[in-house]
Amino acid sequence: MNLIKEVNRLKEAKAIKDKSYKSNLLAFIQEQEEDLLSILQDKEYKEDKRSFAELFLDAAKYDAKYADMMLELYLTEENEKVRKKIMVGIGKLKDAKYNDFLSKHLPHEDSPYVKIAIIDALGKIGFTKWTDSDIAQSKEENGIGRALQKAIRRTHQLEDIRLERPLGKYYLYAYPGLENFVIEELPNSITNAKKVAPGCISIDANQTDFIEKLRTITSDFYCHDAIEQDIDELIEKGIVHIMQMKPTVYKNTLFRLSIPKQSTQKEYVSKTTQLSKLIEQKFSWKNSPSNYDVEIQIKKHTKGQYVFLWRDRRWSKVKRNLNPIPASMNPSVAAALSLLVQRKINENRQGEDQINILDPCCGAGTLLYELSHIDLPENTNIFGQDISKKHLKACKKNIKNTTPTIQVQTGDMEQLHQSFSKHYFDVIITNLPFGIRLKSQQSNNQLYAKFAKNIDQVLKPSGFAVLYTADYKALELAFKPYDGNLTKINTIFAGSLPVSLFVYE
Ligand SMILES: C[S@@+](CC[C@H](N)C(=O)[O-])C[C@H]1O[C@@H](n2cnc3c(N)ncnc32)[C@H](O)[C@@H]1O
Repeated sequence: MNLIKEVNRLKEAKAIKDKSYKSNLLAFIQEQEEDLLSILQDKEYKEDKRSFAELFLDAAKYDAKYADMMLELYLTEENEKVRKKIMVGIGKLKDAKYNDFLSKHLPHEDSPYVKIAIIDALGKIGFTKWTDSDIAQSKEENGIGRALQKAIRRTHQLEDIRLERPLGKYYLYAYPGLENFVIEELPNSITNAKKVAPGCISIDANQTDFIEKLRTITSDFYCHDAIEQDIDELIEKGIVHIMQMKPTVYKNTLFRLSIPKQSTQKEYVSKTTQLSKLIEQKFSWKNSPSNYDVEIQIKKHTKGQYVFLWRDRRWSKVKRNLNPIPASMNPSVAAALSLLVQRKINENRQGEDQINILDPCCGAGTLLYELSHIDLPENTNIFGQDISKKHLKACKKNIKNTTPTIQVQTGDMEQLHQSFSKHYFDVIITNLPFGIRLKSQQSNNQLYAKFAKNIDQVLKPSGFAVLYTADYKALELAFKPYDGNLTKINTIFAGSLPVSLFVYE
């Protein structure tokens, strides 16, 4: 058999997503394992080695023994291109069991090229045990430094490479409707928080850790100073002035820039390019719209001024790359609702009893993920369920490494009483389906009515539910027959749709 020809055929089948690719790949590797390995183990480098290694690593998705074979090969392989290929493939497996191997061999890898691939792989897998030396190196302006920065950021250890924030006046930008959450979450020492426009809060701050505390609800935006009215003047001095007041930032920081709408698209592009170049020259930053650390937005303020919004993605503790489903909620809103739960638990809680929380239609798990990032009592159990297996698959990926562990299962929100014992939950929190119910033409009115009946059964009399829906009428109707109080807390504009937030208790 001509191995190269067969490998190319398999590659093509993979590219066109041929359904028989997996079985053909496994059959081919099983049959030709010996020949392929003998070429791979040959000391002399041949171009085909990389393709063969790639094939084994693809097969490792279905059988881990092939990954082990490639790691063994890594130890003896002299060619850096092949070693790199192996590390890229191992990273794609995203399996924590390879962390030990990768972190052990990282310091001994001589090729910077392969070192970067190992760091990327560790980042993809979600490695968290970075050493002080890794963190120190992450500040260096070279490929390894940047790879480390990216990988460490992925695994939430950003606090360790914290930047300095300037003191002064802040305008925090939240989603309209979430301002109250922001203000309530501010530390007591900051008493002068004011709503100044929808979604915008002004604060005179003499301490900076509040931004850290507010992380997602402010969507990491803050702006510093309202600036001159004239966008051209902005190019000349406004942006430079503001950039100079910004926190110390690394050279080569990747950024993207957006400015207010201009009269023509051409003008927009030309102004944005001009501004970006200026930033690149003045601060040695790099314009990188698809993969950026800092997003700079220049927006029109209600008072006709321009405001400068700055979103530093390196500050967020929460990974932004959750796998979404089309109905996924905004993570900032999910964070705000989780904070509401936290506050209410602390208010209501007496003693050290176990606390059970459920999201009965959790979708991709945005709420579950955010709930696992807030301070909840130690003996808290978080549960999620959804009627859709596909949504639960995305959810399982999203909550894979969270603590506390979240238990998820398929289930119908109309049948909660069958899955859980009576009065089991202290908190039910959910982003309800807004439209026609999945798999059935049942309307919201019917769905919500059955859900309300179930809540009444599985929620403790002392418990509460946080419910988020665009169909507020159906929700109000559904809870009418029950004794508890349904209170509308807020309307949030997280997308184009006004969504109501209720608490039932
Ligand atoms: C608005 S989405 C939730 C989105 C989720 N918060 C997120 O961010 O990914 C509503 C979810 O309700 C689920 N759903 C619809 N009918 C259901 C039912 N009867 N029981 C349980 N889940 C249901 C849908 O599959 C969908 O995932």
